[in-house]
Amino acid sequence: MSLRFELATSPTYTSDARIAEINVDPGFGVYFSDHMAVAAYNETDGWVNARVEPYADFAIAPASAVLHYAQEVFEGLKAYRHADGSVWLFRPEANAERLARSAKRLALPELPVADFVASVRAVVELDERWVPSSGEQSLYIRPFMIGSESFLGVRASKTVTYFCIAGPVGAYFSGGVKPVDIWVSNELSRVPNGGTGSAKCGGNYATSLLAQNEAYAQGCSQVLFTDAATHSVIEELGGMNFMFINTAGELVTPELNGNILPGITRDSLLKLAPSLGLTPVERRITLAEVYSGLADGSIVEAFACGTAAVITPIGSLKDGATGEVHRALIADFPKAMGLRALLLDIQYGRVPDPFGWTQQVV
Ligand code: PLP
Ligand code: COI
Repeated sequence: MSLRFELATSPTYTSDARIAEINVDPGFGVYFSDHMAVAAYNETDGWVNARVEPYADFAIAPASAVLHYAQEVFEGLKAYRHADGSVWLFRPEANAERLARSAKRLALPELPVADFVASVRAVVELDERWVPSSGEQSLYIRPFMIGSESFLGVRASKTVTYFCIAGPVGAYFSGGVKPVDIWVSNELSRVPNGGTGSAKCGGNYATSLLAQNEAYAQGCSQVLFTDAATHSVIEELGGMNFMFINTAGELVTPELNGNILPGITRDSLLKLAPSLGLTPVERRITLAEVYSGLADGSIVEAFACGTAAVITPIGSLKDGATGEVHRALIADFPKAMGLRALLLDIQYGRVPDPFGWTQQVV
């Protein structure tokens, strides 16, 4: 039977005036809306006790599995306000399916796709007032699942809690759509072969943070991770997939080799590529090939893509081993910006949605 996420108690609602004040410049991941969806899992009953509660701190046992062994998975998707005031989701089933795959890898129970989508819709519907309406703002939705059993033995948690929270966001990078400089990590790895690279789990981000600090110290804003074994094959950034466009008119991105998150933005851009005259290519990409392609001009645009960052052009790659800076040669990014505009136009309902990716909530 499907879960019904219904409001359990009446929260204190944030005033329209305060929401408007927040939405002038919400930043990313700073503010949260009034409600959260919650469901509990145990081995006997499966998923139970679905509800919507006021967004609030909650108590958790100090010995909970998640706090010690990082048994956690999460998702990220957005709700977009169209010009007519309606509010739409973009491919929520794809996020639901990815959460289920991530959960499986982390020995967590799968939440059925319909229940995931119901939880997202319940929060967005109740907190519709929080969906911003200007520029590239949206309501960022963060579903997540934790091992909540109080037990310090190392095994899969027998009780699990699922949450869905949300909050208004603007651009992920404070500079807007300006090109970002990237630090190429050749020592610190994000994930090993056979690890959790294709799962969206907190541990993958924890292992990326030291490299990210290195990047900041190098004047860069993100890290490009290479394969753990040889540091010569490009995988992805800490929170985004990597893509480039070459003079052969190809949109090239690393193949899904088990170490890379199968980004929904990545997948959408590969599907949109032909409408901009680009041929989508998923294959192994070496660092050496990208450096020489930038140098000889055969790579004309490089960028990072993801739900939070949309498409963010890459200005330069700074090599972790040599310290050499490899510039992305051209001053603007016409094809990447074309893809970006097309994706945003679909998400904000400004053009028809040929793939049936969007669904209305309010
Ligand atoms: N890679 C990583 C490591 C991410 O955290 C994200 C963001 O979710 C992505 C790629 C892009 O995925 P998506 O386009 O589904 O947001
Ligand atoms: C997203 O794009 O949704 C992400 O999760 C990236 C980052 C904020 C973790």
